[in-house]
Amino acid sequence: MSIELKSVSKIYGKTRAVSEVSLTVNDDVQTLVLIGPSGGGKSTLLRLMGGLEVPCAGSVVYDRIPLSGDEAGLRKFRRQNGFLFQAFNLFPHLSALENIVLPLEKVHGFSQAKAKDKAMEAMARFDMESHSHKMPTQLSGGQQQRIGLARAMAHEPKMLLLDEPTSALDPEMKAEVLDVIEELCKAGPVSYTHLTLPTKRIV
Ligand SMILES: Nc1ncnc2c1ncn2[C@@H]1O[C@H](COP(=O)(O)OP(=O)(O)OP(=O)(O)O)[C@@H](O)[C@H]1O
Ligand SMILES: [Mg+2]
Repeated sequence: MSIELKSVSKIYGKTRAVSEVSLTVNDDVQTLVLIGPSGGGKSTLLRLMGGLEVPCAGSVVYDRIPLSGDEAGLRKFRRQNGFLFQAFNLFPHLSALENIVLPLEKVHGFSQAKAKDKAMEAMARFDMESHSHKMPTQLSGGQQQRIGLARAMAHEPKMLLLDEPTSALDPEMKAEVLDVIEELCKAGPVSYTHLTLPTKRIV
């Protein structure tokens, strides 16, 4: 999967969040890290690359095909990606397991039984099986992020986008989540345990 940003800009009111950014990420690049100051536009750029935002100017091109600006095209594109954000963003009224099962069923179209199998597989991958029945408030921050990561990976995304997934965690939890992410990066785009890892990770 190749990604090309062609002079991409995103403006919110008077704020120019991203200004004419051009970037080429070829097939052979597996991990891309965006570094910059607070307010510099990293999250916005990540959201543009994942199809969560549409640029005001310029274009985002995947595998030489420009990303469609219409909602149906964007939704299709988003489905092939996995996202993990700074705030844990788990559904507070659903258990850890249900948080993973719901999108597999409703967004990715798996049957209930298949969605549950895949969710359990993903939880096992991140060592969270014994916590599957717990509600998010019963989990530590690090455990919530591991559930978030399991949810982002459960549908075997082509691209995994991570937006500072450890910045809201205390140092011990941070290390725990970073270890899992590091392991994902090392494993590369090959089938590992029961999951096929994404071909690209953008942190
Ligand atoms: N939805 C939005 N509406 C209005 N302004 C926004 C929106 N999203 C981002 N911005 C503004 O765009 C600029 C870039 O924000 P962004 O969140 O991309 O920065 P960042 O590099 O991720 O910062 P941080 O390191 O603090 O997370 C900021 O000035 C921010 O206030
Ligand atoms: Mg940010």
